[in-house]
Amino acid sequence: MPCLEETEMIKDLITNSRSYRRFQQVAIEHRTLRELVDLARLAPSAANLQPLKYILSCDPQKNDLIFPHLAWAGYLKDWPGPDPGQKPSAYIIILGDTRISQSFGCDHGIAAQSILLGATEKGLGGCIIGSIQRQPLRKALSIPPHYEILLVLALGKPAEKVTIETVGPTGDIKYWRDSEGIHHVPKRPLDNIIVG
Ligand SMILES: Cc1cc2nc3c(=O)[nH]c(=O)nc-3n(C[C@H](O)[C@H](O)[C@H](O)COP(=O)(O)O)c2cc1C
Repeated sequence: MPCLEETEMIKDLITNSRSYRRFQQVAIEHRTLRELVDLARLAPSAANLQPLKYILSCDPQKNDLIFPHLAWAGYLKDWPGPDPGQKPSAYIIILGDTRISQSFGCDHGIAAQSILLGATEKGLGGCIIGSIQRQPLRKALSIPPHYEILLVLALGKPAEKVTIETVGPTGDIKYWRDSEGIHHVPKRPLDNIIVG
């Protein structure tokens, strides 16, 4: 049985692992990205097929090929995405290998969260990006057709404060930014999501 201290360690890690979209300009090494993918490698996989593959990027030229094809924070209508001085330092692109499976179920979600938790433990942060211009990204990186582009993880050393709050009586779940640039993320209360 886990002791209480361990329970709180995982809660702290998950609480601190927010979606960060603005970053300090600090380099991330290729070795670090490999360590993060190694966490995903150990994660559960439906039928243990392990159909996920990964593209790693941490050099500025390759990063520049990826960034234009990502959409950021859809609820922040006045914010087009990170400024040049706030861009991610690295990316992990999660691919599904259609030679292994035609559907990828939850595998890429589990992989993404495993990687982001590992990043948090390393003092990094990131954001899962599902809103991707997939065809242009495929072309830019010459990704072969047997790989489905599932998710892009943007990674870096966060340069913003993100805070969790409880969804209010209006039920609005949209995240928002205050006048000091603090990013607020409403989460539904526990009693609202346990239904039986
Ligand atoms: C499958 C998935 C796709 C997402 N796609 C995007 C995206 O395209 N762009 C973006 O800025 N954030 C994206 N996000 C991040 C969510 O907006 C974020 O998880 C949500 O606002 C809650 O914030 P939190 O992660 O800090 O709890 C995505 C998250 C998930 C799980």
